[in-house]
Amino acid sequence: MRIVVLVSGTGSNLQAVIDAVKAGELDVEIAAVGADREGTYGVERSSEAGLETFVVNFNSFPTRTEWDEALTARVASYSPDVVVSSGFMRIVSAEFIETFNGRYLNTHPALLPAFPGAHGVRDAMAYGVKVTGCTVHWADAGVDTGPIIAQEAVAVEDADTEESLHERIKVVERRLLVSTLAALAAAAPPN
Ligand code: GAR
Repeated sequence: MRIVVLVSGTGSNLQAVIDAVKAGELDVEIAAVGADREGTYGVERSSEAGLETFVVNFNSFPTRTEWDEALTARVASYSPDVVVSSGFMRIVSAEFIETFNGRYLNTHPALLPAFPGAHGVRDAMAYGVKVTGCTVHWADAGVDTGPIIAQEAVAVEDADTEESLHERIKVVERRLLVSTLAALAAAAPPN
């Protein structure tokens, strides 16, 4: 199973995938890692791991549509079986979703459909929930919507800050992302 991973930030979930592949625990080929901006640690650590990387910089395009077309073409050029949004903080177009029809995987730090968006951890804390968690799902054209594949709960502690809670969620999220990819790879027909 060939995957392209999209990141916007540090890429610690991506690192878990890279580690699992290197350890022989995850049978996927990371065809490339891409970002929507320059200077992400996610791309840096991927280059260090010897992976193909690319940037389709959102700010270099006059319109969102042109950026989206460039991103879609670049990702498609790797012929991925699955595209993984691993902390990719841009909404993609319906055309992107259509191109990778049912094959765009997203990971989110809340129990969807609760608390979608860019601040899932902050919003859950602000609401005062006692349990939150993470979700791996097939993304559709909405914001953090689409069929759920796997979820796991994480308790909110009284002393939590957004950072401490997010870090505990990410520990679970990394494992969930790797196990989900492993299950998909096991189910995928051989090339
Ligand atoms: C992850 O917690 C991911 O779920 C979240 O960004 C973080 C990226 O961490 N994504 C979203 O909030 C999408 N709505 P990482 O760069 O360390 O993997």
